[in-house]
Amino acid sequence: MTATLIDGKAFAAGLRQRIAAEVAAMRDRGITPGLAVVLVGEDPASQVYVRSKGKQTAEVGMNSYEHKLPTDTAEADLLALIKRLNDDPDVNGILVQLPLPGHMNEAAVINAIDPAKDVDGFHILNVGLLATGQKSMVPCTPLGCLMMLRDHLGSLSGKRAVVVGRSNIVGKPMAQLLLRDSATVTIAHSRTQDLPALCREADILVAAVGRAHFVKGDWIKPGATVIDVGINRTDDGLVGDVDFAAAREVAGAITPVPGGVGPMTIACLLANTLTATARVNGLPDPEGLTP
Ligand code: GUN
Repeated sequence: MTATLIDGKAFAAGLRQRIAAEVAAMRDRGITPGLAVVLVGEDPASQVYVRSKGKQTAEVGMNSYEHKLPTDTAEADLLALIKRLNDDPDVNGILVQLPLPGHMNEAAVINAIDPAKDVDGFHILNVGLLATGQKSMVPCTPLGCLMMLRDHLGSLSGKRAVVVGRSNIVGKPMAQLLLRDSATVTIAHSRTQDLPALCREADILVAAVGRAHFVKGDWIKPGATVIDVGINRTDDGLVGDVDFAAAREVAGAITPVPGGVGPMTIACLLANTLTATARVNGLPDPEGLTP
């Protein structure tokens, strides 16, 4: 069997179209969503992401504000900028690009963001709200994965899901979202015993470990849906965490790298900015953009 490809690029384009239509309707009411992105330092991968975010934000009709600070910025100065953005009514979403330089306390910086503007969903309040099944801002990458899984599978209820990776950005919130959709969820990681056997039980396998071709073809249950979150730069170009060539012969469906999860992350950032804007203006959450 050759797996169906889950086309994240096309899905994200459709999502951006819907978001652009919602933004146009909001602008008719005098509201223009605004997203502020803060980049500290010169990390080349982060610079690429930030440029892409700015471009797509403008393309859907939102205001984009970029703040670039030097690597040696004092944490107090970054916190002062976040306070200004928290207080600025034109800013509906705030994203501080990670990783931050080593001298900064990442948790302190994230938790300084107004939770209502925390479009990354990383603030401790949003993490707690998601974990307890309450309305929150939801991290973009897992939200994009959930949208593609629901679109491909319909109900996730009762399905065995294995998430490989336990990061705060992807693994943990992904597991929370799958659990919320009544999947039976296991979080695995590098210390998990007999990881191949565990993965073989998964109807839904999410790979988010950040290691090229870590998940092998014979770890996959025939017919499973495989979501590859990895973006690893190698001599062969960008590759995922899954050995794609082998996996596509076994899986029922799989996301490619590039063109799978990646494009959904920024689309979901725009979705979260729209949601945050709706909420602060007392409007209902836009349809289908929240879990
Ligand atoms: N760095 C890598 N991924 C992300 C993300 O989703 N949000 C932020 N803020 N930084 C990142």
